[in-house]
Amino acid sequence: MNLTATSHKVPLNDGNSIPIIGLGTYLDPGTESQNTCLEAVKMAIDMGYRHIDGAYLYRNEHEVGLAIREKIAEGKVKREDIFYCGKLWATCFDPEMVRPTLERTLQELQLDYVDLYIIEMPMGLRPGNEFYPRDKNGKWLYHKTDFCATWEALEACKDAGLVKSLGVSNFNRRQLELILDKPGLKHKPVSNQVECHPYFTQPKLLKFCQQHDIVIVAHSPLGTARNPNWVNISVPPLLEDAFLNSVAKKYNKTAAQIALRFNIQRGVIVIPKSFNPQRIKENFQIFDFALTEEEMTNIEALNKNIRLVELLMWSDHPDYPFSDEY
Ligand code: A2P
Repeated sequence: MNLTATSHKVPLNDGNSIPIIGLGTYLDPGTESQNTCLEAVKMAIDMGYRHIDGAYLYRNEHEVGLAIREKIAEGKVKREDIFYCGKLWATCFDPEMVRPTLERTLQELQLDYVDLYIIEMPMGLRPGNEFYPRDKNGKWLYHKTDFCATWEALEACKDAGLVKSLGVSNFNRRQLELILDKPGLKHKPVSNQVECHPYFTQPKLLKFCQQHDIVIVAHSPLGTARNPNWVNISVPPLLEDAFLNSVAKKYNKTAAQIALRFNIQRGVIVIPKSFNPQRIKENFQIFDFALTEEEMTNIEALNKNIRLVELLMWSDHPDYPFSDEY
């Protein structure tokens, strides 16, 4: 695959395609001032990014939409040049909620369609106004989900033209198989967004997905911002890894660029989050060098098989995905 800054799309199993690098837009609420997301997305588009990963849950989806629309109005890009991925949150899995939830995202974005819409995680939470519902004792309120029914509602959204492609996130093999084996399946998931970086390389899930023509989208490809509230910080900081830094030195690159290049070179989509102009630019400069086969093998060998994002608060959920091997 010859990837360049201006041509780096990967085909999806439904005939569409996805740019191999996207800008992540998740930020911990209250950590950055308003409009940083707007400016970051506009800058990213100027620098050549054509893929933005967002979610209603991130509370800045309106800024993402505004940035995209401003760049279209300026004539910098056309709508069809941009790939936006939105996410169906866990409190909205009941089939009758799927289309209104997607329409709420389109309303935030002020766009007519999203390119990819994914089930954000395979664990339902009680529907309602709270994103994170708990009872008065602080206990999580779970909700039983028939993911095949949710999927059928998503298929209807694709057929109605509200979304071009459908995918999932944080699904394990068993949960993917549930959808793939669904009687009467109309549209296969095109992607599974999961944690993936040199310390968590996902060899088995990647192989399974490749066999089924499903692309892996790597969230936290740089090892996250290491917020101890939701990140397992017993795993050492990825970007301080001695080997990644030695390879970086050879190519006059940074450890971040090596981590991203490793994934794209093996066909994994990366969505590094940055709202910092220098780092947004840096993360995109991964098309002017290639790692050798030996370097790829050695980076793969850094795999520690320990997750940074374990979602342990929901580990007693009946659908908790990370108890299975993969
Ligand atoms: P910032 O937004 O200030 O650049 P991940 O994508 O793995 O979740 O990582 C995101 C975190 O990594 C954010 O804290 C982001 O901060 C930081 N980051 C993004 N790009 C780089 C880079 N090139 N070098 C170091 N840190 C980076």
